[in-house]
Amino acid sequence: MNFKTTQEHEALRAQIRAYAEAEIKPYAFQWDKENYFPRREVVDRLAEMGLMGIPFPTEYGGAGLDATSYAIAVEELSRVDGGAGVILSAHVSLGSWPIYAFGTQEQKEKYLVPLAKGEKIGAFGLTEPNAGSDAGGTETTAVLQGDHYILNGEKIFITNGGEADTYVVFAVTTPGIGTRGISAFIVEKGWEGFTFGEHYDKMGIRSSATAQLLFQDVKVPKENLLGKEGQGFKIAMATLDGGRIGIASQALGIAQGAYERAVEYAKERVQFDKPIAFQQSISFKIADMATKLRCARMLIYSAAELKEHHEPYGMESAMAKMYASDIALEVTNDALQIFGGSGYLKGMDVERMYRDAKITTIYEGTNEIQRVVIASHILGKEPKAQSAGGVKQSGAITGPRKKQIWKGGEVQEMVDALVDSLKQDGYDFTVGIPLDTPIARAERVVSAGKGIGEEENMILIEDVARAAGAAIGSSRPVAESLRYVPLDRYVGMSGQKFTGNLYIACGISGAVQHLKGIKDASTIVAINNNPNAPIFKHCDYGIVGDVAQVLPLLAQALDTGEKLPAPPMVKMKRATPKQEKPVYKTYVCGGCGYEYNPAQGDPDNDVLRGTQFENLPAEWVCPECAEAKDAFIQA
Ligand code: CAA
Repeated sequence: MNFKTTQEHEALRAQIRAYAEAEIKPYAFQWDKENYFPRREVVDRLAEMGLMGIPFPTEYGGAGLDATSYAIAVEELSRVDGGAGVILSAHVSLGSWPIYAFGTQEQKEKYLVPLAKGEKIGAFGLTEPNAGSDAGGTETTAVLQGDHYILNGEKIFITNGGEADTYVVFAVTTPGIGTRGISAFIVEKGWEGFTFGEHYDKMGIRSSATAQLLFQDVKVPKENLLGKEGQGFKIAMATLDGGRIGIASQALGIAQGAYERAVEYAKERVQFDKPIAFQQSISFKIADMATKLRCARMLIYSAAELKEHHEPYGMESAMAKMYASDIALEVTNDALQIFGGSGYLKGMDVERMYRDAKITTIYEGTNEIQRVVIASHILGKEPKAQSAGGVKQSGAITGPRKKQIWKGGEVQEMVDALVDSLKQDGYDFTVGIPLDTPIARAERVVSAGKGIGEEENMILIEDVARAAGAAIGSSRPVAESLRYVPLDRYVGMSGQKFTGNLYIACGISGAVQHLKGIKDASTIVAINNNPNAPIFKHCDYGIVGDVAQVLPLLAQALDTGEKLPAPPMVKMKRATPKQEKPVYKTYVCGGCGYEYNPAQGDPDNDVLRGTQFENLPAEWVCPECAEAKDAFIQA
């Protein structure tokens, strides 16, 4: 490993620093305040400088520089604005690199070239509500139909989401076989059925865009499969190995920026008749900060150097990401401490940097996951429990639910079917509770989400609540931003938890924080016009339809006139959904009756868990009686 960067590296640093000081620094506070994505000021300018494709060969429109140059670029942008740093990092490491590393020549020409030239922006769609740290729990599906895959599902917390043109998206193509059933696809913005959720209102890196990706029957041409079917998880993991160098550089840059400002301030600020920099309590802090920055930089550049030389670097990039982001929190905290009360004010760089730093310990693998990765390189992998068989169990946020969804029929028929089902489950609509019963004590709640539209439509919620004998609730934005109901009526992880029997969610999309607040409900009903709204995956009954049409009919169907006071609540048992059969085919040995189980594979004969019968090698024989593979029959 070289312990010194080259002259070329330092010339690049000087070039980016000059640009960032002049064209980003003066605006960073405003971008942060206004959640502004600086396409023109950052993306277009980096493209002009030929830096949006730093590590890619010039034949693909890149700058042909090394991985250390890329790390320096992210570091220097982040030194003035952490948001600008991650725009480049997510674009290069996550949105473009997998196409460079795993794409066909055609895919590289079509997608990588405009990305590397900075004409297009890239993003990476891996994270889902049930697949965060456990990326193998991916639930988005891609089903091959003729020349296309049909993509359905959602991705959350996607950096550059909405602003990017090209997305590398991970989806399950073979269900039931764990990570080996995941494939990667290149998906273009603008394709029918591909939409975005609202941008998240984040604590930091507010000049970067982060959004939810929604896929509803999106037709992805077969030629946009990246790598082979089933290779997706490995593509994701290999991509993240490199991405972690980018995030480590971002963390380092943020910390470096805060450190420099703190040193400058400490030299100017006089207390007890001398600059505070010369008070030992501060000078020791500065010494510690500088040492941590140097350690982080060494770890990052050494991981980059290994990557550049095509040596294994997964453990080293995880170490760099973990260490640089951990110390970024410490250094930005110390910097703010040195500034004292002045550092706590909006408009001060250290205040923004303190907020920007936090995400670096979370995304592209939490630092807990980095420790898992590092430990597994040292200790090897922990053997998986036999019963799990490498097949992920679905972990819906609200637990197992019936998921009986009515879609596309006459609204009246769908409403009648819903009310019949609720009555069959034992709900008595001749009794009721007051509309303002505290959520935590309510047996039933009818809740409004943003899909309800104008405030005057709250009358529909009240009518349904009265007819259902329920209290009124809402999603967080309806109480907090729209203020249609008081704050104590919003349901969610950070609001009131509903633990009663019947929860009717109207126009609520089903953000994770909301779902966590209703996970103990006995029955969840969802009414929403977006069939892809996450709430439908987490409910017992659902109607896909316009709330303005569904709610009046529902109020009518539930109406029994004056309600009798409800008796004390008896918690109802939650309905259990039917067990789904395994999706793989079962094969039995014609000789001895041994049944091959793909979830277990045949470890004694080096057949990995998750291997389908069809994919067993032709020479494989029955482990019980040594009959040939041909002698197996499909059960
Ligand atoms: N490179 C290539 N293959 C790899 C690999 C790597 N680095 N790591 C694992 N694999 C392979 C394994 O060899 C294994 O292959 P076989 O099936 O052939 O044996 C397969 O992948 C499965 O590996 P594991 O059994 O180790 O997988 P796991 O389910 O136990 O998960 C994990 C491992 C490290 C925890 C992984 O799930 C992980 O990294 N989680 C964190 C996800 C993450 O970082 N998300 C961030 C999203 S992106 C983001 O945040 C972007 C942004 O906003 C900027």
